[in-house]
Amino acid sequence: MSARVLVVIPTYDERETLPSTLARLRAAVPDAHVLVVDDASPDGTGELAETLAQDDPQVDVLHRAGKEGLGPAYLAGFRWGLERGTEVLVEMDADASHRPEQLPRLLDVVEGGADLAIGSRWVPGGRVHDWPLRRLLLSRAANVYARLALGLRVHDATAGFRAYRAPLARILVESGPASQGYCFQVDMTRRSAARGAVVREVPIDFDERTEGASKMSSAIVREALVKVTWWGLQRRSQQLLTLLRYPGRHASRESSLPSGR
Ligand code: GDD
Ligand code: MN
Repeated sequence: MSARVLVVIPTYDERETLPSTLARLRAAVPDAHVLVVDDASPDGTGELAETLAQDDPQVDVLHRAGKEGLGPAYLAGFRWGLERGTEVLVEMDADASHRPEQLPRLLDVVEGGADLAIGSRWVPGGRVHDWPLRRLLLSRAANVYARLALGLRVHDATAGFRAYRAPLARILVESGPASQGYCFQVDMTRRSAARGAVVREVPIDFDERTEGASKMSSAIVREALVKVTWWGLQRRSQQLLTLLRYPGRHASRESSLPSGR
């Protein structure tokens, strides 16, 4: 594997959409390498991915023993790439909700110096197509809460279409255990910001899947609510401690990244 860019695609029961997602991705960004991370999908997505990888030297598959959630799957994929010298690590869903044709937008932003490019639904130009009102409200509410609780400037902290530069990805992989569900995305955003990473949002179109089913569950929502609240309390108490120790001084963000400000 000698590609600069690795696209990590986590899969759990995505056999209907994986072939077309891979074909579109390979056409849109021919130089990128692809790693499918499958959690032993009962519908045979892992075996299907293996067949597709046999015909394409730029596609690999990582098989995991069972369903452990989005966060651990991505971290395993990132480790795989970092061990092989990848310079940019991309997150993308398998169900065609993210348009591979829009990946170059994210890569351009990283090329331009950002440590993290987020494909955002909630900045001007960003759009969601065909989501039920319930999902729209959940995503908006989650983002408002994350911004307030964590002081994030990002508008789509739960987004799952992203590109990380390797130095930032390495720090995130090496520091601390991952959240399991979709709050993994919020956790990565929060930890990137805390490191002083340059984070930029790029508008994207998010298409609701037409095949298969979302793995979003009430357990995933609960984990996110509990963790974001906990991180928010941690942040407030740290701010308070800083204020008590050094009255008049603001907690500063110092970058530990080569490109950081
Ligand atoms: N390996 C693995 N293990 N993959 C998983 C798991 C898991 O436990 N859970 C989900 N996935 C994969 C799915 O197969 C899919 O490719 C991708 O992760 C996204 O899962 P979906 O279930 O389709 O997510 P969604 O459409 O409901 O949620 C979208 O919005 C979330 C909230 O904004 C995604 O873009 C998420 O990334 C995002 O956090
Ligand atoms: Mn989806």
